[in-house]
Parts: sequence; structure tokens; C-alpha cells
Amino acid sequence: MSVKIRFLPDDVVVVAEVGEPLLEVASRAGVEIPTGCLMGSCHACEVEIDGGAIICSCITAVPPGKTQMTVNLNFDPIW
Ligand code: FES
Repeated sequence: MSVKIRFLPDDVVVVAEVGEPLLEVASRAGVEIPTGCLMGSCHACEVEIDGGAIICSCITAVPPGKTQMTVNLNFDPIW
């Protein structure tokens, strides 16, 4: 099952597979997500998904049940 992933603000679209790590999808798309610990604790790698949830991309894979997803690297942190 493949999912179309759009990265903002660069507006790059790639096709990814469910379960593919988000950082791998990003690097395939030529999009650089800043990272630090790669363990889900430093939050350097946070991105916004579909204009809502903020997630750590280092511990996130492409979820099932979607045909497309927007990943925004340039969101306004609430804190
Ligand atoms: S790199 Fe530290 S939380 Fe993802």
C-alpha cells in the first residue's frame, strides 16, 4: 500500500510505503529533517502531520489507512 507524502515548505511529493520510516522517506525526497538523538527524546526532528499532530519523525513510520499525508517541517511551535 503506497502513500503519497508531501513535504512542506519545499512542496516535494514522494510515494512511500506504509511502515517506511519517515526519515528515510524524507531523505529519498531530498528533504532534510534536522535530527539529534534519533530516539524520540530531544524533539529536534519534530514535524507537523496533516496540519495537526506534531510528531518526532525519527520514531515515526508512514501510518496505514491513508492515501496521502502532508509533512510540514516549518510549522509554528506552540511552545
Ligand atoms: S532526533 Fe531526537 S526526538 Fe527525534
